[in-house]
Amino acid sequence: MSSDPSSDPLGVGAERSDPSSRPSSGHPAPSLSTRVVHGGVPGGRPGEPVVPALVQSATFFGGGPDDGVELGYTRYGTNPNQRLVGDRVASLEGMEAGLALGSGMAAITLTLLSMVEAGDHVVSSQQLYGATRIFMEEELPRRGVEVTLVDPDEAGAWEGAIRNTTRLLYLETPTNPTLRVFDPRPVAQVGQRHGLPLVMDVTFASPVNLRAGEWGAEIVIHSATKYLGGHSDLIAGVVAGPMVRINEVRRLLRLYGPALDPHAAWLLDRGIRTLDVRIERHNRNALELARWFQNRPEVARVHYPGLPDHPDHAVAHRLMDGFGGMVAVELVGGADAADEFCRHLSMAALAPSLGGVETLVSLPRLTSHRSMTAQEREGVGISEGLVRISVGIEGLEDLEEEFARALAHDGSGSGRS
Ligand SMILES: Cc1ncc(COP(=O)(O)O)c(C=O)c1O
Repeated sequence: MSSDPSSDPLGVGAERSDPSSRPSSGHPAPSLSTRVVHGGVPGGRPGEPVVPALVQSATFFGGGPDDGVELGYTRYGTNPNQRLVGDRVASLEGMEAGLALGSGMAAITLTLLSMVEAGDHVVSSQQLYGATRIFMEEELPRRGVEVTLVDPDEAGAWEGAIRNTTRLLYLETPTNPTLRVFDPRPVAQVGQRHGLPLVMDVTFASPVNLRAGEWGAEIVIHSATKYLGGHSDLIAGVVAGPMVRINEVRRLLRLYGPALDPHAAWLLDRGIRTLDVRIERHNRNALELARWFQNRPEVARVHYPGLPDHPDHAVAHRLMDGFGGMVAVELVGGADAADEFCRHLSMAALAPSLGGVETLVSLPRLTSHRSMTAQEREGVGISEGLVRISVGIEGLEDLEEEFARALAHDGSGSGRS
């Protein structure tokens, strides 16, 4: 941040991330398992709290008008709890800088807005979270930014869509809700040839399973509401990437104002400390459940990148350290069976989020992708009978019992108890 407020009245100048979040030179970098626990928190002096204090303050004392005072204001993203989670995620992703925001959508929209202006063009995968797709298809064009949605399965689609005015390539992986895993490397290579950054939404993976920067992404975005927070008790987003890019997002954060509340930032920091062990269990439960669903006659198809017959299994195997906690199943009886299945859930709640310790089930046709027509959904692989399951960390036997009960009532007539 500028030390001269008069030359930077909005306080939008460059900002440095907390160097304590980066490994000190001369020592091997701590493992990711260690960084989720200790990242960004240097060992304390006697008497200091082991857990970072919650600084529930909107503003911070400045010095006198002549002191070259730093303007501390929580809407600027400079609250210590906000900084800590931004730095922590940057460290986990191997990125130079990170910025915490008030939601995943705030992170996505401000990042995109920080990179384009009227007359520019964006190339994006067509496989997107519903709200991101609406932003791409409706909001950006309304601001004079053209967007081409490409089918990432189509060879040459990215390259073919690039224009002189293209400013960035955008990819979500794994995708919501069909769990496609697209290889960022060829997309990043196309970007490099044309001098375009690859921006990725990696919410479904978490940095434990995938560090997209290692595969060519320049900027990564998380809905931290999901796995990073991990307890379905906060809404947050984080963007990480090169400092110059993050400073541009910060500039818009200060203007548009979707700041992360310090308490939510504090909760997010606490959630991140257990990320590694939670993801390990999510991965294990989801893989076992996916295999279990495959053997059920009521289930027509299971979408899980850890299954050998998944179209992206080989890519996921190469790029990811685990296949994630999300499973989607298509029921033989279609939409009616999916509805009936959901009516008979008890422990697994029907709720439109994911990534928490508890198992949550949702019907994409009624939640995340309801703004699309059935035909549009079909076009991106979302059948009307698709049930998305965010597999929690409960006991696997209990989850199998729960789903066996719900399947027995799914109305397809083939259920067993
Ligand atoms: C892949 C993905 N990205 C972004 C978001 C938006 O996150 P938030 O709800 O925190 O704004 C979601 C929400 O479900 C999501 O699934």
